[in-house]
Amino acid sequence: MGFPATRMRRLRESPVLRGMVRETSLDASRLIQPIFVSTAPGGREPIEAMPGIDRLSIPAAVEEAGAVAAAGVAAVILFGIPAQKDEFGSSAYAEDGVVQAALRAIKAAHPDLFVISDVCLCEYTDHGHCGYVRDGRVDNDISLELIARTAISHADAGADAVAPSDMMDGRVGSIRDQLDEEGHSGVPIIAYSAKYASAFYGPFRDAAGSTPGFGDRRGYQMDPANSDEAVREVELDLAEGADVVMVKPALPYLDVIRRIKQATGAPVAAYHVSGEYAMLKAAAELGWLDEQAATLEALTSIRRAGADMIITYYAKQAAAWL
Ligand code: PBG
Repeated sequence: MGFPATRMRRLRESPVLRGMVRETSLDASRLIQPIFVSTAPGGREPIEAMPGIDRLSIPAAVEEAGAVAAAGVAAVILFGIPAQKDEFGSSAYAEDGVVQAALRAIKAAHPDLFVISDVCLCEYTDHGHCGYVRDGRVDNDISLELIARTAISHADAGADAVAPSDMMDGRVGSIRDQLDEEGHSGVPIIAYSAKYASAFYGPFRDAAGSTPGFGDRRGYQMDPANSDEAVREVELDLAEGADVVMVKPALPYLDVIRRIKQATGAPVAAYHVSGEYAMLKAAAELGWLDEQAATLEALTSIRRAGADMIITYYAKQAAAWL
């Protein structure tokens, strides 16, 4: 027998066969585009460290949602930048809050677009933490009430799914109970289950003005050194009624995505975050990377690790490339 008997290259030479043995697919129906909605007047306000992503007025957000849908992206996730912040984050659950108003406007204009709302208090509290602060620390159980109220107000305004990103203990259960009580038993929860205390959120915090005014988020977000703990977080969220569990960020945590998929078989979302986007954009602008090839490779890798869906600032652009 000649050597080598098995030549892996035989599967690679023809583009046809290469396509047939491809294990992972990337298509726009798995991508979710984040949109920042702001009460500030004016249409679009650029975000410095996120080229191509703007803070949008409600009419501009409706227009952007239409462009995202036209590109073939199946869903958007909304983040609000409110007019005012206070210690209770009360703009987060105000009936006429910016996300609530945007939900109504976007669903009215684009009823087939799947609209997810990010549920958190950090954009709405004057100190920038994800919950209510008492005696210098985030009080878990008081925060739960405010977070559940926020989720209900989003569902009332037409959210197709709610995505709590606060990392309080028990929030999935508390949101599920309240949603069911308020007649929203059909609204899914996409839980940010394994959300790490990551340096890669920097550009987002500038965009949303949600950098903590004191301390950091390590008292509630996960330690980047841990992955057993991610499995425990996910198991708890699933037991409390999470429909989809999320790992965030994505590329530095591909091992966590894989572990969670294997351990639970549950639908997994991955969040390719602002800092991951900024790195690709910066290198592309300097001419140091082929933006399209590098981005599609990154997104394919996130799918290969086990993510069923990907939240990415590249969603609209990637859909056009695909
Ligand atoms: C709110 C929230 C954050 C992100 C999504 N939801 C910021 C944070 O936790 O500091 C980050 C998203 C990104 O970096 O793209 N809790």
